Amino acid sequence: MSTTHSEPASLDLLFPQELISSEVSAQLPSDLQIRPLASTDYKRGHLDVLSVLSVANDLGEVAWVNQFHAMRAAPRTYYSIVILDKASDKIVAVGTAFIERKFLRGLGSVGHIEDVAVDKSQQGKKLGMRIIQALTYISENNGCYKSILNCNDANIPFYQKCGYVQKENEMAKYASDTVNTPKL
Ligand code: ACO
Repeated sequence: MSTTHSEPASLDLLFPQELISSEVSAQLPSDLQIRPLASTDYKRGHLDVLSVLSVANDLGEVAWVNQFHAMRAAPRTYYSIVILDKASDKIVAVGTAFIERKFLRGLGSVGHIEDVAVDKSQQGKKLGMRIIQALTYISENNGCYKSILNCNDANIPFYQKCGYVQKENEMAKYASDTVNTPKL
């Protein structure tokens, strides 16, 4: 599978660049590049872009890199992608597909689209849509029978433009602060 933008061999990626849709890559302006998350992306403002969406506490580069390696240790499960502004070497958009394996549907899989965010200065330029298209491509090429996500009401029109339809409801129960440290 060919890609429009090739990645320097030195970058340590979460998953192979070949899993990024070449069609989506080709739709980006030439000053931007879409690629898998790299182990050095802490320095490129990954958390800054995520903080557009929600609390993204900075626990330092070592902790961030440990999380990167923990995700990569689970094969064919975590697919975090970024759009990079080549001139500034800064990340301007992010998103993740998480692949859930099931016993249902003949041992089927579901792609969960998570943590989609575009830098405020870059919103409205179709970068969010490119992130969703690239994540959906990854989900579908993993054999997922559906791709799903949760969003607030204000973002429903955006996801509809990306080809998603409203289905059922989200339920949530937030743990109290005291149980945020894993015990298992
Ligand atoms: N209401 C109506 N239409 C919208 C909205 C909206 N809130 N947002 C985007 N659109 C439309 C655009 O006008 C465009 O329409 P067009 O194709 O007719 O021109 C289309 O949707 C695509 O929009 P993009 O330019 O790709 O949107 P953008 O790059 O700004 O990304 C996003 C959208 C991701 C919601 C961005 O605004 C953002 O980061 N918001 C803050 C964080 C956030 O809410 N993230 C999503 C959380 S949900 C999750 O992570 C699963």
